[in-house]
Amino acid sequence: MNFHLNEEQVMLQTMVREFAAQEIAPKAAKLDESSEFPYEAVKKMADLGLMGMMVPAELGGGGMDVLSYAIALEEIAAACASTAVTMSVNNSLFLSCLMNFATTVQKQKYIPEWAAGKKLGAYALSEPGTGSDAANQRTTAVRNGNTYILNGTKNFITNGPQADAMIVFAMTDREKKHKGISAFIVEKNFPGYQVGKVEKKLGIRASSTSEIVLKNCEVPAENILGQESDGFRIAMATLDGGRIGIAAQALGIARAAFEAAVKYSTQREAFGQAISQFQGIQWKLADMAMNIDAARLLMYRAAAMKSKGESVTKEAAMAKLFASEAANMVTKEAIQVFGGYGYCKEYPVERYFRDAKITEIYEGTSEIQRIVIARQVLKEVTS
Ligand code: CAA
Repeated sequence: MNFHLNEEQVMLQTMVREFAAQEIAPKAAKLDESSEFPYEAVKKMADLGLMGMMVPAELGGGGMDVLSYAIALEEIAAACASTAVTMSVNNSLFLSCLMNFATTVQKQKYIPEWAAGKKLGAYALSEPGTGSDAANQRTTAVRNGNTYILNGTKNFITNGPQADAMIVFAMTDREKKHKGISAFIVEKNFPGYQVGKVEKKLGIRASSTSEIVLKNCEVPAENILGQESDGFRIAMATLDGGRIGIAAQALGIARAAFEAAVKYSTQREAFGQAISQFQGIQWKLADMAMNIDAARLLMYRAAAMKSKGESVTKEAAMAKLFASEAANMVTKEAIQVFGGYGYCKEYPVERYFRDAKITEIYEGTSEIQRIVIARQVLKEVTS
């Protein structure tokens, strides 16, 4: 077992860490404050090849493995979690879904510009009444000659207002429940497509999240992914990969909070010495360091397995669950180390704390990850 990154991965990590420190971190607080989408950062990430990292070179991407993508994403998240989720959704929900399930013609049409970061993708599964119970879709898709007519509202769509195209899930046969769901590539300029309410959020405020309203939206029949009724399998398999991305995002947030807490603890004095000399602070730092390390190992394992084409349903859920809970613990403790200053916007730890929360919710709540893990464990026992 090799616990070391290879030479290219170390080079990539160094390059993205320097880029994020210079170009992204200095603007993160201001973008958070104003809830502005990080257009400039996305453009610069596109120039560095970070928007389509796992897409093969012949389709205009970086041709990298899942672990390299996760390493880069952790670095972006350590600087700005909002920018990281924008990158993550384009890479692991939109582009990976197309790479795995699109036809050659669909790939030629919808991958190169998105992999180059000239266009942005999104993934529309959730609905106002459909979150964890993803099979309970209300959006409908009815075949009408050479088109499907989609009706319904999707919500909590990351990149929604900016997305040029997205994967939309809809019921082609409601009677069949999850076996009646189909997946479509929907462009923003299709008739009947509209961006709805834009959410105001607790954290990741610079990423944009909105409803997508489909009113008799006309989608060409050739834009279906796979066959009718393949949608639920496509959604779940894509989320297996997406959850590795959220684990990497959570890890980046946790690491940034930990590094800030360690530095502050060596500078801040109380009772005549640096607070890092007190056992109460040292125990916190030890727990934070251990949780970050364990989260990284779970995330690297899931990413390495996915790079080899292995099934990662359980491993991705474990990585996402552990890393998101670690991020919430670490950011909370980081504020405690900072004391009153940690609660104020003068230091970044209050932003890390707010940003960490969503990692326990999107791409499957912690409760759903536990269900996914338990089902896999029980399957292993009975098989
Ligand atoms: N890969 C492939 N197929 C899978 C799968 C996977 N990981 N998981 C399940 N399936 C298949 C099953 O094998 C089963 O197939 P058959 O019908 O052929 O037997 C079928 O899907 C149904 O599976 P379940 O019985 O497990 O389905 P369920 O209704 O009990 O739901 C669930 C399972 C795990 C709870 C699922 O609904 C789930 O993951 N919910 C959470 C949804 C979620 O993560 N939403 C996030 C929205 S996206 C987002 O947040 C993006 C963003 O913008 C950041």
